[in-house]
Amino acid sequence: MNNVKTIIAFCSPNGTTKAVAEKISEIHRQDGADVTLVNLGVKGGSDTALQKINQSVQQGSTPVIYIGSPVYGSRAIPPVMDFIERLPQCSGAIAVPFVTWGGVTRGFALYQMAEALQKKGFTLPGAAEVVAAHSLTWKADKPVEAGRPDTSDMEKIGKLVREITEKIKAGSFSGVDISLFKEGRAANFDEVFSIPFSAFSAKMPPKKLNEEACTQCKICADTCPADAITFSPYPEFNDSCIACFSCVRNCPEEAIGIPLEALNSKVQERAANSTEESTTITY
Ligand SMILES: Cc1cc2nc3c(=O)[nH]c(=O)nc-3n(C[C@H](O)[C@H](O)[C@H](O)COP(=O)(O)O)c2cc1C
Ligand code: SF4
Ligand code: SF4
Repeated sequence: MNNVKTIIAFCSPNGTTKAVAEKISEIHRQDGADVTLVNLGVKGGSDTALQKINQSVQQGSTPVIYIGSPVYGSRAIPPVMDFIERLPQCSGAIAVPFVTWGGVTRGFALYQMAEALQKKGFTLPGAAEVVAAHSLTWKADKPVEAGRPDTSDMEKIGKLVREITEKIKAGSFSGVDISLFKEGRAANFDEVFSIPFSAFSAKMPPKKLNEEACTQCKICADTCPADAITFSPYPEFNDSCIACFSCVRNCPEEAIGIPLEALNSKVQERAANSTEESTTITY
């Protein structure tokens, strides 16, 4: 195979998908590979990633695109699915989807990404579902899956990346069977996709702003991965909100309120009753 250029695109409101993306990048760099890391959750992130992919094609390199999303309500998040939607039709190009999930269910996020990538003509030499701290329980004494991904999860990622690199170097491989990404889930496929993502996020608790505490510093808007906050003159949350609650976590004045305890109890209960083992799986 000709020159390979690796592009790792991710969205990570709470940082664990980013940590996995950085691990993938580190392994490529150790091997002296040409690699670019792009955050789809910052303004212009998607455009940058698309430019890098186009540049690589124009320079005669084969782009290998790793794409990472957290699992929200059993699916991939809109900034990631919108990016996949914007990818050019790439017959025979290579993509590796990966997700992080918080011990409740892996759901169908990986399947959703893989299916969309295959429709674009990508071949998938591998994929991963990585256990991570549940980002709705950050304030709890014992967050669900605290400390994950840990060393052992990251070792699995390292092994997968090296295997994929070898397969690509060898030049011929068959893609993974994406039907595996639907097996053994605690969630029900038809039920999950019976409503759009916007209806799922609209069911999450609304955010309440304490105007007296807010200093209009705009940190919430700057760190919102969905560009969902405008100012008039205080923050207002629009329909692009994906309910990641980064704004709540990042506000230095604790001016944005949500019923965190109730949310935490619900997640703790769902995680305790989950039929899925908290194991990182690579394909
Ligand atoms: C709104 C929302 C929905 C979530 N839904 C799920 C889920 O369906 N299954 C699960 O195991 N974890 C779920 N999680 C937890 C995240 O998938 C997990 O914490 C992920 O690692 C977060 O990635 P990040 O740190 O890159 O933001 C959810 C988190 C949020 C904020
Ligand atoms: S981060 Fe907090 S204080 Fe700053 S603008 Fe947003 S809500 Fe207001
Ligand atoms: S408005 Fe807040 S909860 Fe909604 S996407 Fe932006 S940071 Fe996340």
